[in-house]
Amino acid sequence: QKMVPEEKQLITGLWGKVNVEQCGAEALARLLIVYPWTQRFFASFGNLTTASAITGNAMVHAHGKKVLTSFGEAVKNLDNIKNTFAHLSELHCDKLHVDPENFKLLGDILIIVLAAHFGKDFTPDCQAAWKKLVNAVAHALARKYH
Ligand code: HEM
Repeated sequence: QKMVPEEKQLITGLWGKVNVEQCGAEALARLLIVYPWTQRFFASFGNLTTASAITGNAMVHAHGKKVLTSFGEAVKNLDNIKNTFAHLSELHCDKLHVDPENFKLLGDILIIVLAAHFGKDFTPDCQAAWKKLVNAVAHALARKYH
């Protein structure tokens, strides 16, 4: 789905206000709590047995920040998202064996986290633009699967 300039503006405008560390940690924690089967990819992260263990887990925090920082590369390269994630697609496919369905789940979780943080400022138009973005990222990350 192509993005028009107004949508790009909505994305970059909101992104400038996002606390990547906090929202990244929250998004990964929510992914692990809401879709518990995703925990199996993070067996090395230690205690993920309860929601409070997950939200308090330092490795979840650090990795959530890393993932959302990486997601930010999409925001900086809105016209070239596919190439931006080519290497990460190979990694998640060949090395990590992450089912690409999970990229969509994380995208939806991220939208919920943004809605919770920005409330009324996360307008329907803004959500629509972000939905296009998370779709594009999920698509780009799934591209190298074979
Ligand atoms: C690692 C990005 C979604 C599972 C990583 C790394 C990045 C990244 C940057 C570190 C790569 C490195 O060390 O070189 C992303 C982005 C995502 C995404 C941008 C979507 C927006 C997911 C999802 C899962 C997942 C949905 C699983 C449910 C993993 C795992 C690792 C990893 C298991 C290795 C963790 C470790 O042991 O250090 N990802 N990721 N990723 N990702 Fe993703």
